[in-house]
Amino acid sequence: MKSIFLIGFMGSGKTSVSKALANILHINVIDTDELLEKTYETTISDIFAEKGEDVFRKYETSILKQAPTANTIVSTGGGIVEREENIDWLINNGSVVYLETGWETIVTRLKEDTTRPIWNNAGRDKQKLLEERDLKYKRTADVIVQTDGKSPDMIASEILGVL
Ligand code: S3P
Repeated sequence: MKSIFLIGFMGSGKTSVSKALANILHINVIDTDELLEKTYETTISDIFAEKGEDVFRKYETSILKQAPTANTIVSTGGGIVEREENIDWLINNGSVVYLETGWETIVTRLKEDTTRPIWNNAGRDKQKLLEERDLKYKRTADVIVQTDGKSPDMIASEILGVL
């Protein structure tokens, strides 16, 4: 089986859905953010603060390209579609599922979050970013699943029904 790559905005449920999928399929799950922090022995917040977003994006591309392309569920960072080379790589190497999530749901889920530098950057229009990325997620995905009001298990079953 080709690996399943979950893409979507921050707060779209990629981590929970990846775990639900891995439980059902009894296969490994990895998270590109977690792997990046382990590999570079630092936190995402520190990378943004000390080296900036461009360096983070370089690290993220390198981690993505090392992901197993078979028998694995891969949860990706919300900005994975910011680089065209990542989009090309995903299209060529995985089954890509976009967890399409409405702005209201995202705001509710991330209200208290302090760990995501982009979410916590007051100078950025996150709703506009969602609109821009939505087009890129759709261009990259083999399958689009609407997630508003659904549990991770419901979303996982839906994905497996269409893949
Ligand atoms: C980012 C999303 C985060 C993380 C980093 C940048 C983004 O991942 O990769 O903070 O640009 O949207 P999640 O989507 O898992 O929050």
